[in-house]
Amino acid sequence: MAENARKEAAGAGLCAGRVVAVTGAGRGLGRAHALAFAAEGARVVVNDLGVRPDGSPAAEAGGPAEEVAAEIRAAGGEAVAHDGDIATPAGAASLVATALGTFGRLDTLVNNAGFVRDRMLVNLTEDEWDAVLRVHLKGHFLPLRHAAAHWRAEAKAGRPPRARVVNTSSGAGLAGSVGQANYSAAKAGVLGLTLVAAAELSRYGVQVNAIAPAARTRMTERTFAETMAAPTDGTFDAMAPENVSPLVVWLGSAASEGVTGRIFSAEGGRITVMEGWRPGPTADKGARWSPGEVGEAVRGLVAGARAAEGVYGAG
Ligand SMILES: NC(=O)c1ccc[n+]([C@@H]2O[C@H](COP(=O)([O-])OP(=O)(O)OC[C@H]3O[C@@H](n4cnc5c(N)ncnc54)[C@H](O)[C@@H]3O)[C@@H](O)[C@H]2O)c1
Repeated sequence: MAENARKEAAGAGLCAGRVVAVTGAGRGLGRAHALAFAAEGARVVVNDLGVRPDGSPAAEAGGPAEEVAAEIRAAGGEAVAHDGDIATPAGAASLVATALGTFGRLDTLVNNAGFVRDRMLVNLTEDEWDAVLRVHLKGHFLPLRHAAAHWRAEAKAGRPPRARVVNTSSGAGLAGSVGQANYSAAKAGVLGLTLVAAAELSRYGVQVNAIAPAARTRMTERTFAETMAAPTDGTFDAMAPENVSPLVVWLGSAASEGVTGRIFSAEGGRITVMEGWRPGPTADKGARWSPGEVGEAVRGLVAGARAAEGVYGAG
């Protein structure tokens, strides 16, 4: 019996009985998450629009979402493919409807789909800005909003869910990344969205966290070609996308009760809880400052503050 089937038959697995929707799950990190959820007994909605690395339509026929769903079924799990664009209201609504229509419930949403269009700020076009903000920020908001409406209705109907959302930010959103103003702004937006969603939805039994992953996928293989190559000697492949998925599966399971509104970075075998903006050195004159006084005070504050985290790719 396949491992997945054995776990399900035994009612075992961290996510047995749960239904999980993963966006952008046809490749890379999303695919690894979908397979990992299925291996823990979840039934999975595998979403992927099947676009190129820059978000443009793919020429080749056949969708990666169906390939991954078939892979899960071949291993004895349950999965359905969804090939909608999650950054459109129709695509986001049908993602949630597919979970409810196929499996009768939705427990976990993993927002992961996205693409990059990198360029230095002075050359960045409006289209490149809009496309990247749209897929990451609107592509998180719309599925989250539709799923949240369902969970609120469940809670109001006396069926409080133990729902989970895992959003996908990036080191670019946390620290900034040269050549990625659009992507960094979108991924920083995901952090703000996560904090607000966690605060607003806890009353309905919904927990919302975000990850900042690092892994070798088609999105990063050129950037990190040398440092991210897979080892050929059988040692730990620190950049395999599968390393990030156990954290996502746990956050997406009922076992993560009580953990919400947190941002985790995940790379290789390391998991780090990120600590957000907090007040540093401060000065209060108790009255309005003059610009000259401000200058003197701010220089003192900055001198006493911790150095800022470096922006990726900056000198
Ligand atoms: N790989 C890394 O090191 C890394 C680092 C930080 C953040 N991330 C984030 O992780 C997520 C996954 O990236 P990846 O590295 O696996 O890239 P990837 O290109 O391998 O996978 C992204 C998938 O999203 C799909 N997609 C794109 N637009 C879509 C849309 N509108 N609707 C549905 N599907 C869509 C693509 O077809 C693709 O299969 C992204 O949000 C990315 O920004 C990745």
